Amino acid sequence: MNTKRLGVAGAVLLCALTAALAQTSSTDEIAKYRQMLADGNPAELWEMRGEELWKTKAGPGKVSLERCDLGKGAGIVKGAYVELPRFFKDTGKVMDLEQRLVYCRMTLQGISREEAVKTPFGAAGKQSTIEPLVAYITSESRGMKMATPTAHPLEKRAYETGKQMFYYRGGSHDFACATCHSADGQRIRLQELPNILNKANAQAAYTTWPAYRVSQGEVRTMQHRLNDCFRQQRFPEPMYASEAITAITMFLAKNAEGGVYAGPALKR
Ligand code: HEC
Repeated sequence: MNTKRLGVAGAVLLCALTAALAQTSSTDEIAKYRQMLADGNPAELWEMRGEELWKTKAGPGKVSLERCDLGKGAGIVKGAYVELPRFFKDTGKVMDLEQRLVYCRMTLQGISREEAVKTPFGAAGKQSTIEPLVAYITSESRGMKMATPTAHPLEKRAYETGKQMFYYRGGSHDFACATCHSADGQRIRLQELPNILNKANAQAAYTTWPAYRVSQGEVRTMQHRLNDCFRQQRFPEPMYASEAITAITMFLAKNAEGGVYAGPALKR
């Protein structure tokens, strides 16, 4: 038997199969996408679940998160997201939404840090409490203008650190965020790369996260998006809710100033 011939035939068959599969799955994906647009954004389910989680007593403390201060006073959710990240007096730190949630779960509900950061991103059979909470909180800022404060020296510092990170080149390809995100009209294959230094682009990019990702069937947070970009940059994955993430988020949020918040959105 000519195994080489068989190999080639097999490869041809495999290619045809893969192409057919890719075609049906992308067609399916588009059909699914259209259906979802017609029916509304599935992120609404995350928002609803998040509101429930926010109001449910949990942790050893058996308290809800309703007393959590997201920056506008204990329990105020409306409009909190468009003013984050911000400086918090009680911690003496600049925090973004995900970091603040970890803090509230620890201090109010008595959950350990380890537990609070354990499942930031949901997967099949592994639900995250963070994604729905973030979907709920951000949805309460829909229609409001981005107004991240930078008056406090630590807010300014976080912004400057984020800016430095944006331009910091490194890794096997010597990439910075700026390599992919500082020119108009750049793309990787079919994906358009937002120019974060262009106000309209920066606003569109920031005000649409978190988003329900059709390709993943989950609501993904800004940290999830950023982790993927650090991976694109061939950098190690940043720690969840770390100060580095807060700093780069501060930079992105400030560049989006004045943009009308429109998340959680629907994305590819
Ligand atoms: C190698 C190229 C590359 C690098 C480096 C990179 N990104 Fe990205 N970025 C992408 C791609 C690809 C997308 C997805 C675009 C899409 O799906 O339309 C993206 C999307 C984004 C988005 C969301 C845009 C939107 O409209 O949804 C933000 C924000 C972002 N990147 C920020 C960053 C930051 C901050 C860094 C540095 C830590 C970075 N990126 C590094 C390629 C890169």
